[in-house]
Amino acid sequence: MDHYELITRNSQETSEFAERLASFLQPGDVLALEGDLGAGKTTFTKGLAKGLGIKRTVNSPTFTIIKEYTGKLPLYHMDVYRVADTLEDLGFDEYFEGNGVTVVEWAHIIKEQLPSNLLTIYIYHQKDNQRKIVLQPHGQRYQQLCKEIFQ
Ligand SMILES: Nc1ncnc2c1ncn2[C@@H]1O[C@H](COP(=O)(O)OP(=O)(O)OP(=O)(O)O)[C@@H](O)[C@H]1O
Ligand SMILES: [Mg+2]
Repeated sequence: MDHYELITRNSQETSEFAERLASFLQPGDVLALEGDLGAGKTTFTKGLAKGLGIKRTVNSPTFTIIKEYTGKLPLYHMDVYRVADTLEDLGFDEYFEGNGVTVVEWAHIIKEQLPSNLLTIYIYHQKDNQRKIVLQPHGQRYQQLCKEIFQ
């Protein structure tokens, strides 16, 4: 399967990449973020929020599962780390089908409930502050999106 990679050397570079990616997003886009504890999923989301013109501070929504922000597009930020029962329907569809951009940290935990078309973004720890970011598009919309970002 095709995928796209880049290396970032510090949190600012991760944030800046996400900020740039935000400029290509459309209503209804879904980003699935994967990576270990402290990989940089929330850092990425903060950059994305900046790119969407969101002024409010974006924090990890671990205890609330979903937080909504208003920007050029609405941002729905989910962290499903604490969702124990993967089959429990918490109404995620309303977000995925909404007019905003949905970002899901630890997305695989609710994989049965995710839409089949989305952009998976893996963040891997490398040495020190280096991270490898791998984008894997699922569906035509996200293949096109990746081409635009990396062209
Ligand atoms: N290249 C990098 N990209 C992103 N974050 C980095 C990088 N280098 C160092 N960091 C640091 O790693 C940490 C990433 O934390 P962050 O909360 O974004 O991770 P997370 O994946 O959301 O973790 P959690 O699983 O707890 O939600 C921050 O302290 C950040 O400053
Ligand atoms: Mg986080």
